Amino acid sequence: MSFKYFVVSMLVSSCCTHGIGLDMFKAWSPDGIKNLFCPNREDCFSEPTTIKTDHCCACTAVPEWELPHKTHQNIDVEITSVDGSRSKLVSRQTVSNNSNMYFIYTHGKLKTFPENSCSYNLLHIDVTGNLFPNVGNISCFIDLDTLIMKNNKLTFISNETFKGLYKLRSVDFSYNLITKIDCNVFGDIHILKFNFEGNYIHKLDVTNILIPNKTTCGGNYSKNKHPIEITNLANLVLGKDNTFVCSDYDFSYSSLSIHPLLAICEMVVPQIIDKYAPCGEGKYNGMAFDCDCQIAELMHLDFLELNRVYSKRVQESYCRSPGNLLNISIYDVYINQTLRDQMTCDIIDFCPMNGACKCRCISQPNRYVMIIDCSNQSCTDFPTIIPHKSDSSLLNNFKKNFEVSSIADFSIKHDVILNMTNNKIEQVNTSHPYFSRVRTLDLTANPIKMMSEEISNLNKANDIIIPDHLLNNLPKSVELLNPNVFHFGHNGIPCTCDNRWIGEWRLYKQAFKRYPYALKCSNYDNKTIEEMLDVFSDCDVTSSYIWIFYIIFPIVFFFHS
Ligand SMILES: *[C@@H]1O[C@H](CO)[C@@H](O)[C@H](O)[C@H]1NC(C)=O
Ligand SMILES: *[C@@H]1O[C@H](CO)[C@@H](O)[C@H](O)[C@H]1NC(C)=O
Ligand SMILES: *[C@@H]1O[C@H](CO)[C@@H](O)[C@H](O)[C@H]1NC(C)=O
Ligand SMILES: *[C@@H]1O[C@H](CO)[C@@H](O)[C@H](O)[C@H]1NC(C)=O
Ligand SMILES: *[C@@H]1O[C@H](CO)[C@@H](O)[C@H](O)[C@H]1NC(C)=O
Ligand SMILES: *[C@@H]1O[C@H](CO)[C@@H](O)[C@H](O)[C@H]1NC(C)=O
Ligand SMILES: *[C@@H]1O[C@H](CO)[C@@H](O)[C@H](O)[C@H]1NC(C)=O
Ligand SMILES: *[C@@H]1O[C@H](CO)[C@@H](O)[C@H](O)[C@H]1NC(C)=O
Ligand SMILES: *[C@@H]1O[C@H](CO)[C@@H](O)[C@H](O)[C@H]1NC(C)=O
Ligand SMILES: *[C@@H]1O[C@H](CO)[C@@H](O)[C@H](O)[C@H]1NC(C)=O
Ligand SMILES: *[C@@H]1O[C@H](CO)[C@@H](O)[C@H](O)[C@H]1NC(C)=O
Repeated sequence: MSFKYFVVSMLVSSCCTHGIGLDMFKAWSPDGIKNLFCPNREDCFSEPTTIKTDHCCACTAVPEWELPHKTHQNIDVEITSVDGSRSKLVSRQTVSNNSNMYFIYTHGKLKTFPENSCSYNLLHIDVTGNLFPNVGNISCFIDLDTLIMKNNKLTFISNETFKGLYKLRSVDFSYNLITKIDCNVFGDIHILKFNFEGNYIHKLDVTNILIPNKTTCGGNYSKNKHPIEITNLANLVLGKDNTFVCSDYDFSYSSLSIHPLLAICEMVVPQIIDKYAPCGEGKYNGMAFDCDCQIAELMHLDFLELNRVYSKRVQESYCRSPGNLLNISIYDVYINQTLRDQMTCDIIDFCPMNGACKCRCISQPNRYVMIIDCSNQSCTDFPTIIPHKSDSSLLNNFKKNFEVSSIADFSIKHDVILNMTNNKIEQVNTSHPYFSRVRTLDLTANPIKMMSEEISNLNKANDIIIPDHLLNNLPKSVELLNPNVFHFGHNGIPCTCDNRWIGEWRLYKQAFKRYPYALKCSNYDNKTIEEMLDVFSDCDVTSSYIWIFYIIFPIVFFFHS
């Protein structure tokens, strides 16, 4: 990027002597309002899509008066108060409203813009190094292109500030005392560059980073002197409607609660990123990778894409944590599933941690799961709640120990593995709503005597592991599930006429007849329940699947042949 800036400034400064003319530029407008000129030399117009062309030009395009052969006029300032804080603009030469007027007054004591500045049609303002406590009301600068307020005393940026300033292209608020920025500060206009480097921001909404539906070049939040909590107050969800994002962002030497893309993606999958976030680069220089669950989430992307949205310098391309991945290069982790599985985070909020049934809650994005491990406790029932999505802000738990707890909110989008191994559960009552997210329920080493009808809540489950059960029967609602999700192990049930339907269900659904899936009849030499169907053929046949199999099918077959 700095290379591109360099090219532009070279073009502008060397124009007249070397005869580089306007044919080096092509008119370009990101929004139909700004009239900018994009250098041909950058090859932006050979990009494959308009979004990418716009992104390329956003970084390099200049307004007309910055083109070769064009000039601007600086307006002078007269200080009108003894302390140097009040002023007015004066023009030594005659100015017409057609002049390209710049107001540059750096390293002074201004606290407000000169009293009469609204009567000038200012295009460029630079008040670096003054004492502005706020931006003030700048709504009269309707043609303003560049606003530089670096090194002042600003503390807050409101989303009213830039309303109506449709020509505004670039702002620089770096090295102020900004702690708060409204959400959607550039919502009304199409900004191309903004710099908030070296501030004290506590909370930052994604709408100020990945500005929806507007291509931008460069949002700089580097060297922020406070950890930043990312919010998503407008509930932006990439891929939900046709919203796209294409913004560069720089968070070098800053710490963030969550990667902005993770804040707006239900699931980071290549298809969504290709289509809805096709450009924009994320810079995170300053330290090596924390190879935790956040990076694991981004590892579902192509390696080049991972580097685009989370780029670091080459010498920072290794894991500095956790201990087991220390000093392994990010690429070696990327290609090794075993190592990627180790990229986990503990989730603290809403994890059941008290009493005789303590659990550990772990996010493991590589497998798209959250593991609730309550094994080896004295649980007699399931946890009533497990970590869930908070309703208020994306990360209401971002507190002092943000490195541990901050990841809860995106990991909970994943399936659940509930491990209740080695407990004292006798009644399996899966009535809690979270059971619809359970992929694996491990009940090994529990004296299960009863299973309630709510078992059908596990309609997303692949595995229900109950090898040590002491069941006499199954609830009727198991018919709604695939029989092969159950791992009955060696233990069977007493087979009778009353549960003959289980054998029919299993036969009809073509259940596996092998260990650990088979269900045996403990009262018939451990034969599978399917094998015993004949023995119970005197039971009420007409109400069963088997009737269809043994009577209807052969008849149909007979007439057909
Ligand atoms: C520019 O035009 C505005 C309104 O048309 C007028 O009020 C203002 O005085 C003009 N400024 C100069 C410097 O001529
Ligand atoms: C800013 O000033 C304009 C007049 O220049 C006025 O109409 C507007 O209400 C002011 N806005 C605020 C927020 O004070
Ligand atoms: C301006 O910011 C406030 C507070 O951050 C927010 O409530 C409001 O919705 C924002 N306005 C717009 C237009 O986004
Ligand atoms: C942010 O500012 C730093 C320091 O000035 C600079 O090196 C970096 O390129 C900027 N990032 C962007 C995205 O403009
Ligand atoms: C972005 O544009 C698309 C298509 O025009 C629209 O459906 C979507 O609501 C817009 N998103 C936002 C956040 O404005
Ligand atoms: C990891 O790398 C750093 C810097 O290269 C080195 O100082 C450190 O000893 C290494 N640690 C281990 C455990 O290899
Ligand atoms: C993945 O990493 C593990 C642990 O370092 C190692 O044992 C294994 O061989 C690696 N697998 C591959 C395919 O490199
Ligand atoms: C539970 O106990 C088993 C057997 O003693 C042990 O292998 C396992 O690591 C324990 N699990 C946990 C989470 O402590
Ligand atoms: C549950 O935990 C036990 C040990 O604590 C482990 O052996 C078993 O593999 C775990 N089950 C699942 C499904 O991960
Ligand atoms: C299962 O638990 C729910 C809520 O705790 C309760 O209403 C229901 O009666 C229980 N079902 C059985 C069969 O115990
Ligand atoms: C049936 O299986 C159980 C559990 O493995 C075993 O204890 C029992 O001896 C088996 N019965 C027969 C007759 O094989």
